[in-house]
Amino acid sequence: MTDLDTFITGLPKAELHLHIEGSLEPELMFELAGRNGVEIPFASVEEVRAAYAFSNLQDFLDIYYAGANVLRTRQDFHDLAAAYFARAAADGVVHAEIMFDPQTHTDRGIAFAEVIEGLLSAMAEAEAKHGMTSKLILSFLRHLPEEAAFEVLAMAEPWLDRIEAVGLDSSEVGHPPVKFAQVFEAARAKGLKLTAHAGEEGPPEYVYQALDVLHVDRIDHGNRALEAPVLVDRLAEMGMTLTVCPLSNLKLCVVDDLANHPIDRMLALGLKATVNSDDPAYFGGYIGDNFKAVAKARGLDREEIVQLARNSFTGSFLPPDAIATHLEKIETYVAAHA
Ligand code: ADE
Ligand code: ZN
Repeated sequence: MTDLDTFITGLPKAELHLHIEGSLEPELMFELAGRNGVEIPFASVEEVRAAYAFSNLQDFLDIYYAGANVLRTRQDFHDLAAAYFARAAADGVVHAEIMFDPQTHTDRGIAFAEVIEGLLSAMAEAEAKHGMTSKLILSFLRHLPEEAAFEVLAMAEPWLDRIEAVGLDSSEVGHPPVKFAQVFEAARAKGLKLTAHAGEEGPPEYVYQALDVLHVDRIDHGNRALEAPVLVDRLAEMGMTLTVCPLSNLKLCVVDDLANHPIDRMLALGLKATVNSDDPAYFGGYIGDNFKAVAKARGLDREEIVQLARNSFTGSFLPPDAIATHLEKIETYVAAHA
């Protein structure tokens, strides 16, 4: 570990873009398959890892949805999230806003209650065990119709006080934000915050739609906004947070090489970029690995790294007083490591 790596690990940070189903490590996949009597098309953990070579988002999604098939019970969802929180805590994460894809499970006959109660119990445990706070983001699968998103929003009704936001994920191209205009409007009317994947593979137009049609509070990814200078200026001016995921971008071929990753260009353009892991079990690393890999590949300096950590709190859905406390802790940490 370099000095910079050690600095990164201890730096207090929030993770804002994490799909809990994407934190399913092959070892746990095998354990849950055994526990639940589910067949998986792999003979070993090594075989699973070897299958994780993707040439685009859809390649990945096919294997990600197949992997989620081992998740059956409340205990499974608890164990999945508990493993993520332990890993994130070791990387200096003190607050996590985690996405879950209820439709991936309810469409297989798993009750919404099993999914969310397992996640909520792990969240309470993470607070007690690691002092880590967390929030839930219910993500709609955009390859499915908007009516299906309305159905999952209705299922979530008894838990709305424990859900912070809705999100929009899955196959981007061909499923523009405008397809979900009404359900996002309904979610907003219920007091939920809004976020959407936009500009990962989709064009800048999808980022415009996320802003102008969905009225999102945050953009997940946003890489392709860089193709439109007017859009970049607007995102910078409004202080819109982008939840950027360097190792995901590399594995899904959004960038050809981490050496060409735009994270520092985003900061230089005044964009409120953050660093996140997306689907760490599939993309080769958790948030600390993402920070370290992109810092090395792009030669980021401490100030850039600290700015990314600050952005993770100012871009979070935490209340202003909690954000201020976290920002103070960053400054204390930086002063102690000068
Ligand atoms: N679901 C899980 N990870 C995703 C990603 N990177 N993009 C879209 N949908 C996803
Ligand atoms: Zn994502």
